[in-house]
Order: sequence, then C-alpha cells, then structure tokens
Amino acid sequence: MTLEAIRYKAGSLQVLNQLLLPHQTVYVEVRSVQDAYEAIKSMKVRGAPAIAIVGCLSLAVELRAGAGGDDPVTFIRESLCHLTSARPTAVNMGRAARELMEFAENESMEKNSEQLRESVIAWIEDMLERDVNDNRKIGNYGAQHILSGVPRDSVTILTHCNTGSLATAGYGTALGVVRSLHALGRLKRMYCTETRPYNQGSRLTAYEAVAEGIPATLITDSMAALTMREMNITAVVVGADRVVANGDTANKVGTYQLAIAAKHHGIPFYVAAPSTSCDLSLESGRDIIIEVRPPEELTNINGVPIAAPGIEVWNPAFDVTPHQLITGGIITELGVFLPSELQAALTGRLTAL
Ligand code: MRU
Repeated sequence: MTLEAIRYKAGSLQVLNQLLLPHQTVYVEVRSVQDAYEAIKSMKVRGAPAIAIVGCLSLAVELRAGAGGDDPVTFIRESLCHLTSARPTAVNMGRAARELMEFAENESMEKNSEQLRESVIAWIEDMLERDVNDNRKIGNYGAQHILSGVPRDSVTILTHCNTGSLATAGYGTALGVVRSLHALGRLKRMYCTETRPYNQGSRLTAYEAVAEGIPATLITDSMAALTMREMNITAVVVGADRVVANGDTANKVGTYQLAIAAKHHGIPFYVAAPSTSCDLSLESGRDIIIEVRPPEELTNINGVPIAAPGIEVWNPAFDVTPHQLITGGIITELGVFLPSELQAALTGRLTAL
C-alpha cells in the first residue's frame, strides 16, 4: 500500500483529508487556490513540504484552466501571496512563492501569456519529483550517519509529529530516515509521540508505521523522557518547519522539550529537513513567527469537550529548538551538517558528511 497525501494529474488535484485519518480515507478535490488555502488552514493537508506543494499545485490547476487571462503574472503573485498567509511558521510555501515569482517574472520577458502559463505549470509539477528525491537522499544520509555511531547494532529511534509520506510528496524526512533504517534491516523499533493537541503522531505516524510494517510503539508526549531513559533510544530524529541561519529550528510544539531531554540523556538529536525548509534570511530562531492555533484544538477531541469550560488556552503550534541542542546534526539532501556548518553547506561552500 502506498500512502499518498497528494494526488495530482494535469488539471486535477486531490488531497487526502488528514482530519479524518486514521479511520476514514477520503480525498477532497482542490479546484482552486482558495480551496488549497482552506485545506491548508484547516489542516486537511499539513506538513511543511506538503503545504508548499499543494499550494503551488492548486495554482497549476487554475493556470491550466486559463486563469490570469492576459496578465498571468498578477494572478500568480496574488495567489502566492494568499497561499503564503495560510500558515506562517513553515517556510516552504513562502520560499516556493519567492522562487516561482522570480521564475515567472523572468519568463514573462520572453513569453506570451499562454507560454508563460505552460512553463510555470512545468516548474510547479517538478516540485513533486524533486521533493521525493530529496527525501530519499535525506533518508539515506540520515540512516548512514546514525549507523556510523553503532556499527553492528540495530537502532531505536524516537520521533515526533508526522514527517512521512503524509507530510511530503512521498517517503518523508525524519520518517524517511526511519524508513531507510527499516529497509536496511537495522531498525529495531521506532517510538512515536502522540503529539498533542492535533495528534499527528498517534493518528498519522502510527498509521504510516502500521501500513508499512515498521516496528513502532506509540507513547504520549509526557512519556518521552522516561522512554529515553528506559528504552535504549539510539537517536531522536524530528522534522522542521523552518531552519534558520544559525541552525535554530522551528518544529511541532514539543520538539524543544525532546531536545532538552535528549541532551540530558546523552542521546544524539537530529533534525531532518530538505533545503526547501531552510531560511538563511533569518539569523536566529527568535525571528521565526510561531503560529497560534484555535483553543478548541486543546479543549476538544473530535468535537468532544475534554477541558473545563471557561478555561483560558494557549495553543502555539510550534516551538524553536536552539541549535546548541541539535547535537546529532541537520540531515539535508546535501548531507548531514552541524548547525554551525549549515550556511556554508547550503551556499555550496561545504560538501557532504
Ligand atoms: O502542524 P503540522 O502538522 O503542519 O506540523 C508539521 C510538523 O511540524 C512537521 O514536523 C514539519 O512540518 C516537517 S514535515 C516533513
């Protein structure tokens, strides 16, 4: 069984409604940029790379139907601006928007509206393949790096949130590393946190693990330190929504406390992220905007109230892990780097491993 968060063929886009997983598999049609905005905002589709890919593919769908008329550049600019505002913390959508806009503006110098639409659509369609290829490289680099510390043993990995096929175009980032270890026959077990409040761990990562026969155990977020002490965890591997110039990393809330606990237990802590999740324009994690989500995500589960009525709620969706706690390294499609090496690696001044 292949898990697909995104189904695309020329002119048609569907996303798996992740709000209904793991109990129902329902694909929803995305016919417009506005449909994609709503699917991203409501988290039918989520995960930094998937957000960018679905956003851009929705634009491709509209362009194929002739959107923008004689002025596609304005339509593209306004659409990208709208899509980027749906969720502020993950950089991938904003980064894709910047790159795509630059490409569209250059193309518009030489091409008519129809030709411009065609080349922008081709640029967008390429994103799917690029993301899967990058994830496979991340999986491979990450697995080799982790195994280099334990030459003969099988390893036990702790992960957080969902970073797999459901969060990307396929294979996944941190979960891609787990997949690669499993494919090599070197994964003893993955522990995945429940990841309150939205439960990406219990609903989505657990679902991917069960579907693929990856040996996995679910824990609540509050069991993570105990699991590190008792379960012989080899490494913690998480994804990222934005890695900034000094290596500070925004990821699903709860990541920061995992990094602190890993440091206490002497367990290497890795961030797995494609370069499309990196943002060298921000110097430190203090500059990252953290999305705050509605209180109902904490006070209700599937519409059932679980908290005292009237209680005030703070629901930040992400936290920032300081680079000093990323002790294993940042796993990218270019190799594994220490946070202090990231800038040089991304600007081509440093090569893999
Ligand atoms: O709120 P979400 O589900 O979009 O948060 C997802 C995460 O934090 C992931 O770890 C991150 O986007 C990387 S997905 C490859």
